[in-house]
Amino acid sequence: MAVEETSRPAARSAAVRTVRLLRGGTEGNERLTALTGTVLLGLLAVEGVTILAIRPLLSLHVFIGLLLIPPVVLELAATGYRFVRYYARDVEYVRKGPPVLLMRMLVAPGLVAATLGVFATGVALLVVGPGGGVILGLHKASFVVWLVAFGIHVLAYALRTPALVAADWGRANGTAGAAVRYGAVALALVVGLIIAVAALPAAHPWLQWSGGDR
Ligand code: HEM
Ligand code: HEM
Repeated sequence: MAVEETSRPAARSAAVRTVRLLRGGTEGNERLTALTGTVLLGLLAVEGVTILAIRPLLSLHVFIGLLLIPPVVLELAATGYRFVRYYARDVEYVRKGPPVLLMRMLVAPGLVAATLGVFATGVALLVVGPGGGVILGLHKASFVVWLVAFGIHVLAYALRTPALVAADWGRANGTAGAAVRYGAVALALVVGLIIAVAALPAAHPWLQWSGGDR
């Protein structure tokens, strides 16, 4: 009984926070996706540089890779929410419609699968330690698929993204929930930093190994 009473207010405030995040409807959802995508683009550009010189930049590669996990989860959560609302026949999301056919049938599933592949095999590399064998092969293979899907994704959305991000800037943004969207992205980055700092020591065996002869 006591547990029920204490858990009720907590559940209610979690529900209130969720409702606030969802205010702004489809427009708010789209803006959150674009803002998160912009942050991803910046971090992924740094990750791309580390790939060009993976040995000397391996600690940065692992750090940024781990930092990226929560923002990637946020992008997938925002777009996953749109997906679920659309198939649950939510009036507003049905009115907005799905993404264009090529994106929803080919690019998005490929991008989601390859993203999960790159990050899962990256974390697995830290767990199994230097060498990597098949897992390193899968990490590289999923990266190649990811790069193709990601390239198309960015080309498709790059023109729309700046206006969506700018729309939340300033007071007259017209769509509720801007502060919560900024908060969600900031929280994802803080959690990413905590994960990166906490898990970076797991890369030590890789760093020692990559410093020596193969
Ligand atoms: C790992 C990186 C990323 C993943 C996994 C990802 C995933 C997705 C998915 C699954 C969708 C919904 C399907 C679709 O519309 O095609 C989507 C939509 C979108 N993404 Fe990304 N994305 C990523 C990076 C980016 C970047 C870098 C940008 C910014 C250029 C971006 C901007 C957008 C925009 C504007 C939409 C459309 C939102 C809407 O119409 O409601 N994304 N993303
Ligand atoms: C959880 C995050 C990640 C971790 C822990 C991680 C870890 C690693 C490790 C340990 C290696 C092997 C380096 C070596 O052979 O010395 C590697 C290689 C590589 N990673 Fe990651 N990675 C992560 C995320 C990513 C992401 C997000 C991308 C790209 C989107 C990526 C692309 C690559 C590529 C292409 C290589 C091969 C580079 C080469 O051999 O020239 N990784 N990663």
